[in-house]
Amino acid sequence: MTHQLLHLPKSVTVVEVGPRDGLQNEAEFVPTDQKIALIERLAETGLKRIEITSFVHPKAIPQLQDSEEVVKRIQGKPEVVYSTLVPNEKGLERALTAGVKEIGLFVSASETHNQKNVRMSIADSLKGFRNIAEKALASTVRMRGYIVTAFGCPYEGKIAPEKVEFIIDEYQALGIHEIALGDTTGMANPLMVSRLMERLRPRFTQAAPALHFHDTRGLALANILAALQQDIHIFDGAIGGLGGCPYAPGASGNVATEDLINMLEEMGIETGVDLRKLIECARYAGEIIKRDLSGHISRAGRVCWDGPETP
Ligand code: COA
Ligand code: ZN
Repeated sequence: MTHQLLHLPKSVTVVEVGPRDGLQNEAEFVPTDQKIALIERLAETGLKRIEITSFVHPKAIPQLQDSEEVVKRIQGKPEVVYSTLVPNEKGLERALTAGVKEIGLFVSASETHNQKNVRMSIADSLKGFRNIAEKALASTVRMRGYIVTAFGCPYEGKIAPEKVEFIIDEYQALGIHEIALGDTTGMANPLMVSRLMERLRPRFTQAAPALHFHDTRGLALANILAALQQDIHIFDGAIGGLGGCPYAPGASGNVATEDLINMLEEMGIETGVDLRKLIECARYAGEIIKRDLSGHISRAGRVCWDGPETP
């Protein structure tokens, strides 16, 4: 009998999306000072990419209505890229005025979800991205394109891979640098991830593939392991597993960044992130949202091979 060892990359990039994806779902508005403090602490952990806010309509996402102030007031570190979400040209103008260097565009693979999220058809979203991409490229702003509900949609169910392929092609034609497939409501499983990424991987001829898993059904880390096998090495996480509105039963945040970093580092994959500092960030995130977060490692503490460590 032969044993096949896992095929693992040497290093992985983890993108922290908690300040945006996590905080946008909180029931209570998190004061700007605390958002800024969280972002600055995250930037001290070794994370090189943090999605900090959204230039969306303040009525659509009231939690992030202070986006200009957040961007203006954070003490940026030169080695860290701070990005913001942008839904349309108005959002881009606001991001450029604020001096943002990376933006995230987003469109759903599901027509129904896109309508609910941005009140547009997929075709209209993509059409709007043409001008945005042109302007962003002219301003040397890096672009990430999200494909929301890529692994399944709470309204439409299964998403045909052709729909995801179509958006990947459109994004690449626009000069998007990175494409993040989102499992928005945690519908993926490891076999689905393996199959889909095996099919899609050769399609990424211009843009780098990234994956964005919510841990709604507890499968995010298993899905990430399956994706590592398919040569994907950019993953999103949210500190403490932030996200998931307490008033929306079943909704849940991204995989907790500290749990993801723990898994990767314990497997010998470099992330450049200091897990102790990250655990402190997770505790701080819990303080500012005034409830216990779902991450395992901040409760259990780091794995310790040289003797006991109190969590
Ligand atoms: N920022 C601020 N204001 C904006 C805006 C933006 N990005 N985009 C549009 N507006 C304003 C317009 O200026 C207009 O204002 P006016 O009435 O004073 O003239 C008004 O909003 C309506 O514009 P319209 O283009 O019709 O937007 P809409 O009401 O159809 O909303 C979105 C579309 C995309 C702006 C809105 O649905 C949105 O922000 N969604 C965000 C969803 C999200 O973030 N989901 C989570 C991430 S996956
Ligand atoms: Zn998300």
